[in-house]
Amino acid sequence: MSKVYVAVIGAGGVGKSFISQLNAYALRSKKYTISTILISRSSKALLSKDYSGLNLTTWESDISSSSGVKPPSFPDETLKFLTSAPGPMILVDNTSSETIAEEYPRFLSSGVHLVTPNKKGFSSSLALFKAIYAASEAQNGGYVFHEATVGAGLPVLSTLKDLIDTGDEIVKIEGVFSGTMSYLFNSFAPLSPSGAEKSFSACVAEARELGYTEPDPRDDLNGLDVARKLTILARLSGLLVTEPTSFPIQSLIPKPLESAASAEEFLAGLAGFDGEMHKVKTTAESEGAVVRYVGSLDVGKGEVSVGLRNFDRGSTVAGLKGSDNIISFYTRRYGERAMIVQGAGAGADVTAMGVLSDLIKVLERLK
Ligand SMILES: NC(=O)c1ccc[n+]([C@@H]2O[C@H](COP(=O)([O-])OP(=O)(O)OC[C@H]3O[C@@H](n4cnc5c(N)ncnc54)[C@H](OP(=O)(O)O)[C@@H]3O)[C@@H](O)[C@H]2O)c1
Ligand SMILES: *[C@@H]1O[C@H](CO)[C@@H](O)[C@H](O)[C@H]1NC(C)=O
Ligand SMILES: *[C@@H]1O[C@H](CO)[C@@H](O)[C@H](O)[C@H]1NC(C)=O
Repeated sequence: MSKVYVAVIGAGGVGKSFISQLNAYALRSKKYTISTILISRSSKALLSKDYSGLNLTTWESDISSSSGVKPPSFPDETLKFLTSAPGPMILVDNTSSETIAEEYPRFLSSGVHLVTPNKKGFSSSLALFKAIYAASEAQNGGYVFHEATVGAGLPVLSTLKDLIDTGDEIVKIEGVFSGTMSYLFNSFAPLSPSGAEKSFSACVAEARELGYTEPDPRDDLNGLDVARKLTILARLSGLLVTEPTSFPIQSLIPKPLESAASAEEFLAGLAGFDGEMHKVKTTAESEGAVVRYVGSLDVGKGEVSVGLRNFDRGSTVAGLKGSDNIISFYTRRYGERAMIVQGAGAGADVTAMGVLSDLIKVLERLK
């Protein structure tokens, strides 16, 4: 059995689910002994100072008991603790922190492997993206995998890598990349309407109540989350997008409401703009189409865009259900008919699966 060490920073929805999947994997594995030496939230952490490993069954009650301590400082103490492990070290960043992402190059240069669902490191400045890959590719650099940054557990980045590595040429990638936007438009402009027609603001309010949006829905409606995912896909396809804001992003936040003081004030004001969205919807209907919020990347033209587009009622995108994502890869080999990846694109369990499968990829590459 080879022994490997794991540190988990961030233990929210995804983190919790990840730890439970990791625990089951460690018990199943006949090849690896996995020792989890750090579980950290923002203000409390569990450390296994002797590297013998934390108890992954009792960690949740342990972290809130007297065993929970102040997290080691980031990056210095954390880096020192991780690099002193007596074997291969894998860092799982389960936060959405930019501060943590900015330190990825240092961790990778020190030989720490990294797996994460955090989009910030790969979709902020191009300089950080390049530094992360340069640190990983340098001699003794750690491996880096971030499948869950696009489409949660869906095999999007691994599929893209396989296409490119085997010599295919990416022509275009397009699809619905946000579970929130998917849910919103599948209920606002359904393919087969049932029951009374709902206004856009009512759909947003309902999605928020069901927990499908961020606490402030503007964080979804501004389109930036989708733009970050497109930035990652573009960069991995060789299109070196400078910033996640350096291409057209259609925000669904009416200008006057950008400065609304609270989510509640925003939602109240949104009803005043329902007429505009209704027009968008009926225009699509009159063309035999439905409106959806999509991202698209045209590698040949070097163009990336994020926003509303009409889709033929018979198209795969129009037929999407619930909060599912769909990603269509148009390539030279696949020709006119895209290779399509479709399914749940959000949720703690499927996201954690994307993270654990990345961790297993690292294990398989260790000598
Ligand atoms: N949920 C999904 O469906 C989904 C899908 C794809 C990707 N993701 C990505 O997965 C990541 C995690 O998502 P989530 O939904 O699990 O988020 P979350 O519930 O907000 O959890 C974040 C966790 O990170 C901790 N944290 C934040 N800053 C930290 C810091 N500086 N040091 C240590 N811990 C810190 C928080 O601590 P406290 O517990 O103390 O607050 C919390 O435990 C995000 O990057 C998200 O974008 C999520
Ligand atoms: C990471 O932690 C955040 C916040 O606690 C949580 O929402 C997310 O689901 C976690 N992701 C993983 C992969 O554990
Ligand atoms: C974790 O704690 C539980 C409850 O105390 C115990 O039954 C279990 O054996 C512990 N597991 C390990 C790996 O120490």
